[in-house]
Amino acid sequence: MRYDSFLDLTGRRALVTGGSRGLGAVLAQTLAAHGAHVVINYVRHEAEALRTQQAIRDAGGSADLAPANLTKPEDIRAMFAGPLREGIDILVHNAAIGSFKPAHEVRANQWDLTMNVNARALLLCVQEALPSLAQRGGRVVAVSSLGGARVIPEYGAVGVSKAALEALTRYLGVELAGRGVHVNAVAGGLLDLPSVRQHPGFGQLAADTIRRTPSHRLGTADDIARIVLFLCSPLSDWMVGQTLVADGGMSLTV
Ligand SMILES: NC(=O)c1ccc[n+]([C@@H]2O[C@H](COP(=O)([O-])OP(=O)(O)OC[C@H]3O[C@@H](n4cnc5c(N)ncnc54)[C@H](OP(=O)(O)O)[C@@H]3O)[C@@H](O)[C@H]2O)c1
Repeated sequence: MRYDSFLDLTGRRALVTGGSRGLGAVLAQTLAAHGAHVVINYVRHEAEALRTQQAIRDAGGSADLAPANLTKPEDIRAMFAGPLREGIDILVHNAAIGSFKPAHEVRANQWDLTMNVNARALLLCVQEALPSLAQRGGRVVAVSSLGGARVIPEYGAVGVSKAALEALTRYLGVELAGRGVHVNAVAGGLLDLPSVRQHPGFGQLAADTIRRTPSHRLGTADDIARIVLFLCSPLSDWMVGQTLVADGGMSLTV
């Protein structure tokens, strides 16, 4: 049996939240390269969203933009009533935000913002998309990080929101499997991305991570994109509510 055709997403419509830049832009380009029509959600960086859309079109793919602030339920509703009114087959929830500080210093407003973008938005998007996802054998992929299951310094709010995201993935996975909707997640270790490079401690962080990683390098956006593609395809049909860890083996070492 050959499974090449399982990776052909022609005719599928995919929403990538936070698809304007960073990992989300690479996820959008990967799904488009495999034939999906991609809808790029973002909130502020329109120029970056337009650049990603153009890169997809230049490569022969198809993409639209769907600006919406995922902290606002009314924005999410408007996005599904407007740019996404034809429904979707694939939802990749990649958008995330967070203040880098220990959990015990997180303020109430920072907690709310982080939880709402990183975790609640998945719930609200799935609720809006459910009719089309259920009709079309849809796939939902949540982008998490190692901080959802492990303790990373200065990662309090984000780590807790990723734990909620992974728990939500389990619940939605189980609840929706019988309706033909596949829900899974991928949790990446530190990735070599612009958002990380801007961090003042990037050099030290990268060196520490590489030293502790059996594969002796940082992850790349492409490392994660391949796993997202797998989770968007029938190759992963028998997985329900799981979070795949992709970190070059770092979390297995002490
Ligand atoms: N960086 C890493 O090392 C790493 C490791 C593991 C997992 N991850 C995960 O990978 C994902 C992407 O990370 P990244 O580093 O590429 O992030 P990033 O560069 O900071 O980009 C964040 C994206 O989320 C969007 N976004 C933020 N708040 C939003 C809101 N309220 N409504 C709609 N969109 C919003 C941004 O849109 P605008 O462009 O409009 O601002 C942007 O597209 C995240 O889930 C992150 O937790 C990252």
